[in-house]
Amino acid sequence: IPVDPFDLIIFGGTGDLARRKILPALYRRFWAGQMPPEARIIGAARAAHDDAEYRAMIRAAIGEFVAPEKQEPATVDAFLERVRYLTLDARGDDGWDALCGMMRNGVVQAFYFSVGPGLFGDLAERLHRHGIADAESRIVVEKPFGHDLQSARALNATLAQHFDEHQIYRIDHYLGKETVQNLMAVRFGNMLFEPLWNARNVDHIQITVAETVGVGGRGDYYDRSGAMRDMVQNHMMQLLCLIAMEPPYAFESDAVRDEKLKVIRALDPVAPGDIVRGQYGGDSGGPGYLEDVENPDSLTESFIALKVHISNWRWKGTPFYLRTGKRMRARTSEIAIVFKDPPHSIFGVQERQKANVLVIRLQPNEGINLRVTIKEPGPGGMRLVEVPLDMSFKEALGPEAEDIPDAYERLIMDVIRGNQTLFMRGDEVEAAWAWTDPIIADWEERGDRPRLYEAGSSGPEDALMLMHKDGRRWREVK
Ligand code: BG6
Repeated sequence: IPVDPFDLIIFGGTGDLARRKILPALYRRFWAGQMPPEARIIGAARAAHDDAEYRAMIRAAIGEFVAPEKQEPATVDAFLERVRYLTLDARGDDGWDALCGMMRNGVVQAFYFSVGPGLFGDLAERLHRHGIADAESRIVVEKPFGHDLQSARALNATLAQHFDEHQIYRIDHYLGKETVQNLMAVRFGNMLFEPLWNARNVDHIQITVAETVGVGGRGDYYDRSGAMRDMVQNHMMQLLCLIAMEPPYAFESDAVRDEKLKVIRALDPVAPGDIVRGQYGGDSGGPGYLEDVENPDSLTESFIALKVHISNWRWKGTPFYLRTGKRMRARTSEIAIVFKDPPHSIFGVQERQKANVLVIRLQPNEGINLRVTIKEPGPGGMRLVEVPLDMSFKEALGPEAEDIPDAYERLIMDVIRGNQTLFMRGDEVEAAWAWTDPIIADWEERGDRPRLYEAGSSGPEDALMLMHKDGRRWREVK
């Protein structure tokens, strides 16, 4: 179904994110017929380019980041006709009158701030001063939304001078991932899981986001952030919220975000002994973290594992183990809900059945898998065996699931539709920093040194201990 006609202005329109994610996502939506013919995309940046040069850049980006079967030349040409370029100085006056002259009435207006947070204030202020944005315009801002609570508050305050909260779309692209939304469908669209979804029945929850890539190329940003700021404060926190939150009264933006906020506020501080930080070393002569970031003294973590508790009625006593890292053995993201053992085995001690585990795989091969115990087939008596009830979306849904839209496709279309459900509200981001800040402050104060782990492994040994000491184990990274 096509969305309403829109003008999308991308500040930072020649940048890496625009090239890799935003423009290919828009093209794919165009290819799928979701962009109405009147839609326009205006890339804006400081460099002097004309429309033709900008279109050539986007053509190359589509060539690189869109599947070949979606690149029919006529479709690419038709998409590029909707694209304009504008030379504009976020901190000066150049280009703003021209932008004003390009705006149309009667279409949705969205401004994508695909620039460093240092420019958010300048852009917001000029959009108003030049009479370009109005009370219905939307702005889209990217992570990192601040570096700590204080800077996040300052950013929120700056944006609030010119825009109302209902106009601000803070992106966390994990919320746009198909399986993350499916998590809500599984929880609240079935009777089967929700009655068991609590500390009485769940032994623990594991959330793993393992990556094989290192930080090469983004060393400067990453070394000032580390895994805690880069992944835990936002993506992992959002996953945790969706698993742990109470049922919202409706799948609507504030209903969902209110429930997420309550989870973040109920998080306990984390004891230093419940955190393991790591840094990858080099493998077979390749660069390790310290070489990648060109900082031999860096104490920044490229891996973190931590045990988190939520103090509320539903979750008191059930730990959430989170782990994420770069240069790990495999690229895999999953959430595992590990249920408690049955209270008593009627089959004798030998046949103690293993706990049920519900695994929600975010990537790759999105799907849901439930481990259950059954009788081993054959005449050998009552021997038990575990089997997976495996539902790969691709297998279960066929061609429809072959073409799962990228997170950015979904999220940008939601901006045009005016749906904020999958975007972070200002208070949520602040609450997440309020929880993160003391943890980081503690290890900065102590000069905490991350443990070395081998590139291509599943993280430092101590991370295994974090669970072993509780009599539990991580699922394999594979
Ligand atoms: C980004 C982080 O937000 O998410 C990156 O800054 C990380 O460091 C990326 O690699 C992971 O996203 P995805 O979609 O590849 O899991």
